[in-house]
Amino acid sequence: MKTIIYDSAFENTEKIAKAIGEGADAKVIHIKDAQSLDIKTMELLIVGSPTLGGRPSKPVQDFLNALPADALKGKRVAGFDTRFEESAQGFGLKLILKTFKYAGEKILKSLESKGGQAVSAEGFYVTGKEGPLKEGEIERAKEWGRSLV
Ligand SMILES: Cc1cc2nc3c(=O)[nH]c(=O)nc-3n(C[C@H](O)[C@H](O)[C@H](O)COP(=O)(O)O)c2cc1C
Repeated sequence: MKTIIYDSAFENTEKIAKAIGEGADAKVIHIKDAQSLDIKTMELLIVGSPTLGGRPSKPVQDFLNALPADALKGKRVAGFDTRFEESAQGFGLKLILKTFKYAGEKILKSLESKGGQAVSAEGFYVTGKEGPLKEGEIERAKEWGRSLV
């Protein structure tokens, strides 16, 4: 089974998760429903979150931390995030965002630390805190989803 677990406050990450799910033909599940999942049945696990202060959201961090060591052994894993569009930022904020880095890479590292086989990490752009997504991001997310399978 291919599974996408995501968190989202303003629905931008949710839209991206659904587009990736379409591309990868994967089941899409909100983080609040992730506890009941049977990880054993997964062949590909994709986890996504808004970038908040350079990190995944608290529910996503808690989910990742709670995974037992080696829980993802033999499974392919990928991470994604939504984030501020860099080109829309002034120099100072651009530098801060770059220094903080982004949630997707941190998610992938965490999945890898639980035994997962890292496939890819990707970021998708919002034009403001509550969105909307930058034009073309839904299509890019579908394409990224296709590239994972
Ligand atoms: C408290 C807060 C902190 C944020 N920190 C960052 C950040 O460090 N880097 C970044 O690129 N975007 C940052 N953002 C922008 C979020 O990534 C953006 O709101 C998110 O992509 C929206 O996704 P959602 O609609 O799924 O909630 C921040 C937003 C909020 C509200």
